[in-house]
Amino acid sequence: MKTSESQFPLEGRIALVTGAAQGMGASIAACLAESGATVALGDVNLEVARIAADRINREQQGNRCVAVHLDVTSEAQVEGVVDEIVQRFGGIHILVNNAGILYPTRITDISLEEWNRVVDVSLTGSFLCSRAVVPHMRAAGYGRIINMSSSAGRSVSTLGGSHYTSAKAGMLGLSRALAKELAGDGILVNAICPGLIDTEMVRSTCEPSTIERYEQSFPVNRLGTPAEVAEIVRFLCVAGTYITGASIDVNGGDLMM
Ligand code: NAI
Repeated sequence: MKTSESQFPLEGRIALVTGAAQGMGASIAACLAESGATVALGDVNLEVARIAADRINREQQGNRCVAVHLDVTSEAQVEGVVDEIVQRFGGIHILVNNAGILYPTRITDISLEEWNRVVDVSLTGSFLCSRAVVPHMRAAGYGRIINMSSSAGRSVSTLGGSHYTSAKAGMLGLSRALAKELAGDGILVNAICPGLIDTEMVRSTCEPSTIERYEQSFPVNRLGTPAEVAEIVRFLCVAGTYITGASIDVNGGDLMM
């Protein structure tokens, strides 16, 4: 049986998911582990990442998830965590650049510090993590890098300010550039562009009545679930062998372009 047809098509693959303590990152980690990958859940919030890793291991009656402290904006931490994963598990094959922060601030109120913070977590963090894993993916002749952009990156953010839209648009450029540069090494790079997904990020930014109004305006009139995004990540890792440089919309038809 070919690996991709087995119950655990990602058996032997090592993954790093950033921002994996909650929301989409935790769902993606669960999905990859369910498919057989060993998954490091990297997050600035180590305590919550540990709870997520323990929960996934318990639910799956396995031991495939570990939590690691990781601030994706720190070059030293990114390099250190990637080295630690490679030493402990023997390689790194899948990177999901999922960490992100959102502020709804309007342009004249955005401090330079806040601008840099938003861009650093989404865009610069994705650059730092990608740069650190590429040599190991090259050595394995296999790699999948998935960048969590947003429909903000393809159009404009519903909730976030101009820094958020700019960072997410930048992630689409990074994905395309790396896809072109790395395909010859067996490394495929894609972006996912979710619409409004039911996570803490959205719930802590919007009143329930505002969310309801948004839902009613979507062709599929509800928020998306983290699991629906995680399934796309799984697909890109397990199959999707001729997909690179793509931006995949997961938005219930909110944005059609
Ligand atoms: P969330 O806020 O629920 O989770 C984000 C996680 O990233 C948290 O666990 C947080 O601790 C972690 N994080 C923040 N800064 C970090 C750093 N410097 N280093 C490492 N980890 C860090 O967010 P959610 O909704 O799960 O979003 C995940 C990604 O998807 C984000 O990049 C977000 O911008 C993007 N996205 C979210 C959408 C939504 O509607 N929820 C829509 C489109 C994109």
